[in-house]
Amino acid sequence: MQTKLLTNNTTDLQTAAELIRSGQTVVFPTETVYGIGADAKNPGAVKKIFEAKGRPADNPLIVHVSEKSQIAEIAAEITEDAQKLIDAFMPGPITVILKKRADVPNEVTAGLDTVGIRMPSNKTASEFLRLCGCPVAAPSANLSGKPSPTAFEHCVEDMSGRTAAIIDGGPCDVGIESTVIDMSGEPVIYRPGMISRAQIEEVLGKKVRAAESVKDGEKPRSPGLKYKHYSPKGRVVIIRGSLDEAADCVNSQTKPTGVILFDEILKEIKPKLKDGVRCVSLGGINKPDEAAAALFAALRKMDELGAEIIFAPEIPDTDKWAGVRNRLYRAAGGKVYNAAEFAGDGNKKEIKTVLFVCTGNTCRSPMAEGIFNHAAKERGLNITAGSAGLFVAPGSEVSENSVKAAAEIGVDISGHRPTRITSELIERSDLILTMSSGHKMMIASMPEAKGKTFTLCDYAGGRGEISDPFGGSLEVYEKCMREIKVKIDKIIKRLETQ
Ligand code: TXA
Ligand code: MG
Repeated sequence: MQTKLLTNNTTDLQTAAELIRSGQTVVFPTETVYGIGADAKNPGAVKKIFEAKGRPADNPLIVHVSEKSQIAEIAAEITEDAQKLIDAFMPGPITVILKKRADVPNEVTAGLDTVGIRMPSNKTASEFLRLCGCPVAAPSANLSGKPSPTAFEHCVEDMSGRTAAIIDGGPCDVGIESTVIDMSGEPVIYRPGMISRAQIEEVLGKKVRAAESVKDGEKPRSPGLKYKHYSPKGRVVIIRGSLDEAADCVNSQTKPTGVILFDEILKEIKPKLKDGVRCVSLGGINKPDEAAAALFAALRKMDELGAEIIFAPEIPDTDKWAGVRNRLYRAAGGKVYNAAEFAGDGNKKEIKTVLFVCTGNTCRSPMAEGIFNHAAKERGLNITAGSAGLFVAPGSEVSENSVKAAAEIGVDISGHRPTRITSELIERSDLILTMSSGHKMMIASMPEAKGKTFTLCDYAGGRGEISDPFGGSLEVYEKCMREIKVKIDKIIKRLETQ
């Protein structure tokens, strides 16, 4: 198919609208991302969208309008709450799901009885939609699975030869797709976007739920939740750690490597990176708007630069960052790695021995050792744990309250003898887990500990410290034991799939 490349002047937009009316597809800009549109009431035209994208037929499309009055041509009913969102946020980066009218084809909604409706604020989009004169079904104009296109060039790359025309509207302002909210029943946000949950809750005057992403085998309420998304060709890896740990991790890679980071951090880390590492900015560290506008282009840029491993930063788990976090974490398969652990190509040695470390080896680390060995045995995991202290007083003994607390879950540590940490012990251990970041700092200075020392909480995928129960009541010890147990259960799960 010959693809017409059009500008956004009125004559070209008229040509594009004519193509839509004759049952063709057209790629057009919006404020969020580019979409590939077809006449929503023409099933044959809608099918062409699925073909062009390689999109699974069970993933519904959203319908775009240029006037609020058109919503009644698509939705069976506009509830009072839905109307509040329409008044507050349309035109703009939001999609509202409502009960559909019977004449909306199943091809658009993938057989669901609801339909997503969106009114873009982008000037080109709204003029184009007005000229079409019909509601336009449109998903993002990327090949299925790739990052959504936020620039004309991205669309040309993905859709040349697959669509009748592509309209050039320059770069998209928002940069990530619209917030998708289901208003056909109790409100649920299916996809976070730059219109935040807090903004929606304020307009509705009530709390709104956000849908979890969907695990394998579950039936999602929004089909799009189940597909892997936003993936460049390279592997996206989110890392956490100090600047030096991150630089070491990047420098230790043998494959072509890229880094996507906030300006402030890029400035600091760049001088520490080896030659040839590709860096792309996500904008300012406190600017979710800038990150949203930059993210998909950054992922595509990494492909262009040939990066096979793409490191990216953790994104704050806050309402304002929810959209950016959702897109980046899905591109990374939802995992966050410790930079020190991912160093050396991520080719980790198999873990057979774990060493738990605290201050005196009388309370926390003996409990951790006992709980770990007990759980590992129960699950048939062939890993053995030991424990040691940084400062062990001669003649010290395991604390009575630790013994009692561990006994409550069937773990016997009464025979434990406190041991001081030595460099041989560190060398012999494949993984060293400390109770606090202070402990970690002390050990990490030894060369034998490099790349294998983490805090227990970090390694379990969370944050925080296991505080010292020393001298406390049995209750304090029990609480500490339970905290350790929660973390160890997570670590065991992680080690089972190493
Ligand atoms: O910003 C945007 O929304 C862009 C621009 C082009 O408007 N469009 C877009 O469409 O991102 P798409 O198809 O890539 O994403 C729409 C998402 C999908 O995850 C889809 O599963 C979900 O919305 N969706 C659409 N209709 C739905 C419905 N009736 N019920 C549940 N989820 C629906
Ligand atoms: Mg999409």
